[in-house]
Amino acid sequence: MKILVTGGLGFIGSHTTIELIAKKHEVVIVDNLVNAKIDVLTILEGITNETIPFYPYDVTNYEKMSEVFQQHQFDGVIHFAGLKAVGESVEKPLEYYQNNLISTMTLTQLCREHAVHKFVFSSSATVYGDQESPLMEHFELKKTTNPYGETKAMCERILSDVGHARPAFEISLLRYFNPIGAHESGLIGENPNGIPNNLMPYITKVAKGELSKLNVFGDDYDTVDGTGVRDYIHVVDLAKGHVAALEHLTKGVHIYNLGTGKGTSVLELIQTFEAVNHVNVPFEIVARRAGDIATCYSDASKAKEELHFVAEKGIAEMCRDAWRFENNQLN
Ligand code: UFG
Repeated sequence: MKILVTGGLGFIGSHTTIELIAKKHEVVIVDNLVNAKIDVLTILEGITNETIPFYPYDVTNYEKMSEVFQQHQFDGVIHFAGLKAVGESVEKPLEYYQNNLISTMTLTQLCREHAVHKFVFSSSATVYGDQESPLMEHFELKKTTNPYGETKAMCERILSDVGHARPAFEISLLRYFNPIGAHESGLIGENPNGIPNNLMPYITKVAKGELSKLNVFGDDYDTVDGTGVRDYIHVVDLAKGHVAALEHLTKGVHIYNLGTGKGTSVLELIQTFEAVNHVNVPFEIVARRAGDIATCYSDASKAKEELHFVAEKGIAEMCRDAWRFENNQLN
């Protein structure tokens, strides 16, 4: 299939591009480079041994995106492009609603105009809000704690309504849990600008000595050791989940969790990282971070049954691959 990948130079988009090409799909990337580097394109072309058509456009720009749809007859779209920093979304809600909603609506409109019916959307476990894990796709969604999460929930609703109004559409809403790790080549991975917000990129910077210590946000949660529990999934597994979702699309709107079904605490992740990489990660327990929940992990059985997708890589591999990528960084 010929697939448009928006945000294809970002963390999850780049890994998914590799897995799509490995399964003989053709990829066209649109990425406005707001949170990605153009060098990733060259690296992707090196890894896949393919030339990948690339447009540095903003997905909210209907005219520019229209050009792309005129130049290529797509079989499907995987829509990753979006703003994704939880804290920033609280400071700049309008930018988040404007960017994340308009990009999704622009793409959906173009898909309708060009009879592109396969649509895979990058959603998040954050849409579940604070409710008891394991989280299942049929759970009623609860209020999310930040505008970023709200944009994901709203995009899910928009796509669901479009899918119901236009039965030709085949839509998959993928709710990611916590993607970490990196490609085994060590050439692509998560490379946030500035001080990282998320746990794994922060750990790798501390291990490398670029940051002095990790702040562990709270040890008084009702969890195995008091620290937050999350369902970490290797980004390469997550990428394979997208290919499975794309290849199993059928008419209608489908929702899948992409996680491992297992929870890991912050302290467990630190200990595994130290053990497999033989490095120290100094940390200090500090106050809880506003908006965090104690526990969030998936019930991964629907993706297993319907997409035949099971995440294969464990925490040790995630820690090893994240560290390998960090050590390849020149900065
Ligand atoms: N944590 C720390 N110290 C840090 C960073 C994080 O202790 O410096 C803890 C958090 O309190 C939490 C865990 O590590 O318990 C994971 O935190 P992350 O920031 O890595 O991830 P979140 O689970 O908070 O959020 C992630 C994505 C969101 C997405 C959400 C879905 O960042 O985009 O998962 O559940 F919405």
